[in-house]
Amino acid sequence: MSPPNKPAPRTRLIAALDTADITQAKNWAAQLAGVVDAIKLGMEFVYGCGFDAAKDLSRTQPVFLDLKLHDIPNTVSHGLKSLASIDACLLTIHAAGGREMIARAREAIDAAYPADNRPALLAVTVLTSMDAVGLREIGVAATPAEQVLRLADVALRAGADGLVCSAQEITPIRQEFGAKPTLVVPGIRPAGSQSHDQKRVMTPGEAARMGADWIVVGRPITQAPDPAQTARAIQDEILAAT
Ligand code: C5P
Repeated sequence: MSPPNKPAPRTRLIAALDTADITQAKNWAAQLAGVVDAIKLGMEFVYGCGFDAAKDLSRTQPVFLDLKLHDIPNTVSHGLKSLASIDACLLTIHAAGGREMIARAREAIDAAYPADNRPALLAVTVLTSMDAVGLREIGVAATPAEQVLRLADVALRAGADGLVCSAQEITPIRQEFGAKPTLVVPGIRPAGSQSHDQKRVMTPGEAARMGADWIVVGRPITQAPDPAQTARAIQDEILAAT
């Protein structure tokens, strides 16, 4: 009798390909294919390399399209419809855009994509580069965790499938909203690596233990001497933690 299949690890790894250089991006994508679970294309890549380049990469591996739309509801709705030619498994809007913007985004996704190939609509809560001081500077007296929960409530009620948050908020979000929302967690730093501009950071293993569905790792992978080897080490850390 064959041994039972080991369940796939729950936390999946996304590598953020933050570059405006198409050759560099394709090189990273090729090195990381089959090692990471998805690649993240954000504004640096899409504004620098163009939508056709994003479309091309989306044919080779799963893509998290992280353009963080934030505008009036009508503009976000039409913007999302225009993005539908890129085959993404995850895409982002800002929760701070409010209930109506998120609800219109939900409708746009449902109208523009077939039900069997629809990206998860993620609402970015508080950027992982923000801390309590940064929030106070923009007039928010709440702590990052309180503000994340407030934005999460608005976003999930309005129809978002999930949230982008830091690992520090995973537990309170799960306590409040349960297991269903897809949680995508950037601000991940393997032990001993540089934080750069990230403030609310955690290691891959900690984020996996806390129940992140996906973790996003950019510079620690892309700036490593061997990106694939670093990504493999992160996958091993995730496996060991869960
Ligand atoms: O290089 P690093 O690991 O810090 O990259 C993190 C990636 O995750 C960046 O591409 C950034 O745009 C993205 N991100 C983030 N915080 C959020 C949402 C997305 O750092 N709240």
